[in-house]
Amino acid sequence: MSTAATPDAEAAPEAAPEADAGVPGAGVPAVDLADPAFWRLPAAVRAAAFAELRRLPAPARFGGPGSGHPGHGFHALVRHADVVEAGRTPAVFLSGPGVTTPEPARWVRLLFGDSMVNLDDPRHAQLRRIVSRAFTPRLISKVEDDIRRVAADLVDRVERERPEDFVTAVAAELPFQVICNMMGIPEEPRRVILDQVNHASEHTGVARPLRARLRMPGRGLLALARMQGMVADLGRERRRRPADDLVTALVTADVDGRRLTGRELGAFFSLLLVAGVETTRNALAHGLHLLTAHPEQRALLVGDLDRHLGGAVDEIVRHATPIIQFRRTLAVDHRLGGPDGPLLRAGDKAVLYFGSANRDETVFADPDAFDITRSPNPHLGFGGGGPHYCLGAHLARQEMKVLYRELFTRLPGIRSVGEPELVPSSFDHRVRSLRFTF
Ligand code: HEM
Repeated sequence: MSTAATPDAEAAPEAAPEADAGVPGAGVPAVDLADPAFWRLPAAVRAAAFAELRRLPAPARFGGPGSGHPGHGFHALVRHADVVEAGRTPAVFLSGPGVTTPEPARWVRLLFGDSMVNLDDPRHAQLRRIVSRAFTPRLISKVEDDIRRVAADLVDRVERERPEDFVTAVAAELPFQVICNMMGIPEEPRRVILDQVNHASEHTGVARPLRARLRMPGRGLLALARMQGMVADLGRERRRRPADDLVTALVTADVDGRRLTGRELGAFFSLLLVAGVETTRNALAHGLHLLTAHPEQRALLVGDLDRHLGGAVDEIVRHATPIIQFRRTLAVDHRLGGPDGPLLRAGDKAVLYFGSANRDETVFADPDAFDITRSPNPHLGFGGGGPHYCLGAHLARQEMKVLYRELFTRLPGIRSVGEPELVPSSFDHRVRSLRFTF
């Protein structure tokens, strides 16, 4: 996922691991998570590096001072327990300074800073209460019917037009149409918005020359800014003339005497698009590929969809981990894991590697195996728990279940062809395209 606040925030040419004896970071292996080149290495090489990092007695530190690169570096939290602790201790592990590393430019924060992902309490709790109120059971049950309708239409179109790329034809369309329907976005600007989201996301988590990043905001960001303006207008319109949709619920929900401002609404819509569309699209595409690559798992699933769909969806999210990492900043000095744990200092940054936590061999037996019957499956694909836990986890699971049911029922021969084309990124596990047939 790329969050509304992330686009410019990625892949600065950060540094070699800091040799910082006596504090977390000592004895780091010969990899550099801060170097964009690391994220272009083959997946197996990266996985082996993370396995090595998980075996260290303390989190390694990367990109620190003295490295000749901007920023003060970060501790890499790679174990399941450490990621959970950071997620569930929000008074110590702050989101307010930004959840991407390095920090986004100041103007990005000005434009997108109202996004809840970048807030701490009390503002985060206040905003999340408003937004959660709008996700009422009535609205969500309406959405479930809608997901079925959108999925059925997409499969009709696939049968008719026989497209080659699963991502553009199906995986990106479903979550996008569902969120637009939820928000009551009219048909006409949807194509433009989807292009803009795709453009913004293509440039997230991909190394760009530092000069280009400093000189001008990415075109994708400008596109997002335009889109936010469009949604803020829609919010004003709904306040004047309420309709039966999420935008109306958001701009009229009154929690503690407060409701969303136009700017907050714009930021929230951007967040929903990038958080809800990109992540689900990547999960759906990885899922089709995983089920193709593991025919025995697919046979098990198709043999009893009612029984296995839930487990399959969670195992896809664990195995693929669409969001690789999020950052926190230490509010105070903190010992990780208890009084004898490694000391992280106030002001330090800590990056929560969800993908690594999801392969933690102390939690998951045979973690590289794709096993739709894995139980329990305490994966951190939707976050480590705590107040920022994915707002859309239920929606995402629903979308995945409905779409796979539709696909495997109506197109039983569906499978991916060849390897997915991935976009190298330290932030999200993005699939640019995936050829398929049925
Ligand atoms: C498979 C699909 C998805 C994955 C893997 C995913 C993953 C995540 C992760 C890892 C976080 C950060 C959690 C943390 O910091 O502890 C998050 C937050 C969030 N997600 Fe999702 N997500 C998915 C789908 C969705 C959908 C469909 C929506 C839209 C409704 C959504 C909306 C959000 C929002 C608004 C946040 C920020 C919550 C906050 O800061 O309070 N996500 N998601």
